[in-house]
Amino acid sequence: MSKPYDPKDFYFRQAKKAGYRARSAFKIDEILKRHPVLKKGQAVLDLGAAPGGFLQILADVVGEKGIAVGVDIEEIRRIGKPWVKTAVVDLLQPAALEQIKLLYPGPYDLVTSDMAPKTIGVKVTDEARSLELCRMALGVAEKTLRHGGAFVTKVFVGGDFPVFKKELQVHFAKVHIVRPAATREHSYECFLVGLGYKHGPVVAAAGR
Ligand SMILES: C[S@@+](CC[C@H](N)C(=O)[O-])C[C@H]1O[C@@H](n2cnc3c(N)ncnc32)[C@H](O)[C@@H]1O
Repeated sequence: MSKPYDPKDFYFRQAKKAGYRARSAFKIDEILKRHPVLKKGQAVLDLGAAPGGFLQILADVVGEKGIAVGVDIEEIRRIGKPWVKTAVVDLLQPAALEQIKLLYPGPYDLVTSDMAPKTIGVKVTDEARSLELCRMALGVAEKTLRHGGAFVTKVFVGGDFPVFKKELQVHFAKVHIVRPAATREHSYECFLVGLGYKHGPVVAAAGR
């Protein structure tokens, strides 16, 4: 018999212990260990960043000479590091890109999205809404990434997942699938990691 859902599972407890705001901190940490696409001094944009688990990891990776921007439809509590900028932005609104560029105009070395809709428990609807957010995130990445930059997005596997993966392959030299260990056992989420953005401005590799 499958185990009941336990919100106080191993990664939940580990996150509390480490001072992370969400277990998802471990997910981006693992993704960056497997695909080291972000360095000190670089710029990263995190979409759907509340409460700030990803952002805590990303801020530490880029360090004080870098910039980490996080936006969400919900308020993100201050991270307390001057190189982290946050704002309330609804990615489904037409002004979203402008609002992001006010925080930092780019180009970014990495764009991440852990955005998720409020699920209603109907798989096809939840998948479709998740994919809509993925496509919005990809749209922002296309307008903010530097040439050679990377994109990481959470996707629910099912429905149009293979179609979206193909859309990513148009824009990135390589696309990998990662299902981090911190993912809940019964979740059908995974992350698509696009490496080597084919368009965008060419900037010096040593950061900014
Ligand atoms: C799984 S949580 C992100 C957790 C975050 N990565 C962390 O590590 O703390 C998904 C987030 O997506 C955000 N979200 C959903 N729809 C959004 C939208 N239209 N625009 C911006 N953020 C959105 C939610 O508010 C929620 O905070």
